[in-house]
Amino acid sequence: SPVAAVNVRPSRHDTDTETGRDPTRVKIFDTTLRDGEQSPGCTMTREEKLVVARQLSKLGVDVIEAGFPIASPGDFEAVKEIAETVGTANNPPIICGLARALKKDIDVCAEAVRPARFPRIHTFIATSDIHMEHKLKKTREQVLAITHEMVSHAKSLIDDVEFSAEDALRSDPEFLAKVFSVAIAAGASTINVPDTVGYTTPGEFKSLIHYLREHVAGIDGVTISVHGHNDLGMAVANFLAAIEGGARQVECTVNGIGERAGNAALEEIVMALHVRKGYFNAAAFARPADSERALTNVVTQELYKSSRLVSSMTGMTVQANKAIVGANAFAHESGIHQDGVLKNKETYEIMDAALVGVVQESNLVLGKHSGRHAFRSRLAEMGYTLADDELNKAFARFKDLADKKKEISVLDLESIVNEEMREATG
Ligand code: KIV
Ligand code: ZN
Repeated sequence: SPVAAVNVRPSRHDTDTETGRDPTRVKIFDTTLRDGEQSPGCTMTREEKLVVARQLSKLGVDVIEAGFPIASPGDFEAVKEIAETVGTANNPPIICGLARALKKDIDVCAEAVRPARFPRIHTFIATSDIHMEHKLKKTREQVLAITHEMVSHAKSLIDDVEFSAEDALRSDPEFLAKVFSVAIAAGASTINVPDTVGYTTPGEFKSLIHYLREHVAGIDGVTISVHGHNDLGMAVANFLAAIEGGARQVECTVNGIGERAGNAALEEIVMALHVRKGYFNAAAFARPADSERALTNVVTQELYKSSRLVSSMTGMTVQANKAIVGANAFAHESGIHQDGVLKNKETYEIMDAALVGVVQESNLVLGKHSGRHAFRSRLAEMGYTLADDELNKAFARFKDLADKKKEISVLDLESIVNEEMREATG
């Protein structure tokens, strides 16, 4: 039986009313700093992770998965520092760490997330036959026993425990339902259904969520989460279908960075739920189709800035035609489209660039003759407010660049600010 809980903290589920966050929305679980960061070419330093975590909090995500604490001392320190800072600020998000279903992983993870006001342990084990046989070399019975033991152990350390069944979409649904039932009985308050290899389709994902709602014991009151990769380019569509099926947390990354073809892109899910809120309010929440109710807590105007920041911190460029945040996402080239947009923007635009925080080039052109005041005003227009000493340093960088370039673009200014933030945190 589980060890008596020590140092139990309130979970976000208990405090939704306290924080004013609406539990009847879709929770955004950001894993840019864990699943995103672990992909080739995306590693970030401790300082870079902290800068990104601050922005994610500003963006309004509900959960930040800050890392995999057992993976390295650096990752442990980064998760702990995020828990101590971002996790204790005003109205903080849940700070989560990943742990395999192993005692030592869970212990280290608990230590890293504990300083946060709302800490979470996310533990996982594979449930597909191919993973159990070839990777884990464990039987179904053994996996069920480990799930019980390790979720109980995590729960004895931190109250908010999420359990994932790795490769769930290629697992036997009957066995999957058993594993989740055991995890819930042991104390998991979120069960996560990962499409680890990006194999499923929207219809299949939705049906599986329906099946789990009917066959998992104790599922009422537990959050059903989805996690997915983009190997067949369907991750976002899969999540939207899963939400229709009853999923209420989505695990995603900024710019869709992540293993192989990446994870589901946060900005795409958020904007699909925003632009089509009438549809999703009706299809997923049985509300009227003209409902204007917001479906996530995300501040959409912070999306573009978050995208630029993650691109700058990881060095992973965003393709020009990427939905929502690509350089061409709001550009119109063909004559017919330009003509239509000039007559009425809505002919070819389903959302305003300003809604996602895209800053258009301004009439206020900055160059080597521009002064500190114009520089500060332009940054303010772009949504950046720097402390005086940061502004001075950023202004010096700007002057250096202006000596080499005729005109300083919005992208140049973003790089200057992001560079400054990275140094200020270091
Ligand atoms: O893709 C996956 O299955 C994961 C789990 C650890 C949730 O990243
Ligand atoms: Zn993953």
